[in-house]
Amino acid sequence: MKILFFGDIDGKIGRTAVAKVLPGWQKKYQPDIIIANADNVTHGRGMNRKHFDYLSDLGVDIFTAGDHTLERKEAEELLNSTDVKVLRPYNLVGDYAGRGEAIFSIRKKKLLMISLLGRVFMDEPTSNPFQAIDSILEKYQAGDYDLVVVDLHAEATSEKHAFAWYVDGRVNAIFGTHTHVQTADERILPKGTAAISDVGFCGASDSVIGVDKKEIINHFLTGKNFVMKIPEYGEAQVNGVLVEFNKNKKAKKIKRLQEKVIIKK
Ligand SMILES: [Fe+2]
Repeated sequence: MKILFFGDIDGKIGRTAVAKVLPGWQKKYQPDIIIANADNVTHGRGMNRKHFDYLSDLGVDIFTAGDHTLERKEAEELLNSTDVKVLRPYNLVGDYAGRGEAIFSIRKKKLLMISLLGRVFMDEPTSNPFQAIDSILEKYQAGDYDLVVVDLHAEATSEKHAFAWYVDGRVNAIFGTHTHVQTADERILPKGTAAISDVGFCGASDSVIGVDKKEIINHFLTGKNFVMKIPEYGEAQVNGVLVEFNKNKKAKKIKRLQEKVIIKK
């Protein structure tokens, strides 16, 4: 069984780049399930129904969350819909739309998918993701599913490394997201869990992690707020990770994927 995971899809250029790359990856790698992080899909902030439909039609089965998931009002309708496989972060403290974990059935496979936010250098009001994963795994102890997969949307590599060790042998794969930069630390831990600190993103290469570089340089130079201006054309990169599991559900291969495409006007 193979899972293909796309890192944070960022804005129109990211969506278009995924549309160009995904059919080729599907043909080449034959994944059983495709997951994508949807933190930045609609102009960098969350995901609306139109873009959910667009990416679903391309073949994405499940959408995970991040710090921007609940920023747009229209996301609530999507998160509360029972017919979609879209998560919000599980460990947000407070009352929010949607759910942060679910068992999804996809082509005869059952996946317990969990979306968590990290806490180091992150401002969102969250509970401890290490304690959260314990509660979830306890709740689903007798659950009927084939694999458990976690998206830990977090800034710090240390937090993501520690988390991977903490869940080794208890979840089947842990994908780090949020930094938009793919890390070269993909590995299979001793008890069979596939892990990578960050899958990387799908968006504009000629940018600062997806946002117009002039805006961000000016922000660092002057301290002034920046506008979430996302380049629409030029080189885009699509970052993903492919994990293959053997029959006893242990990861047997993990492969980083990156492809660059030119998005023209
Ligand atoms: Fe994020």
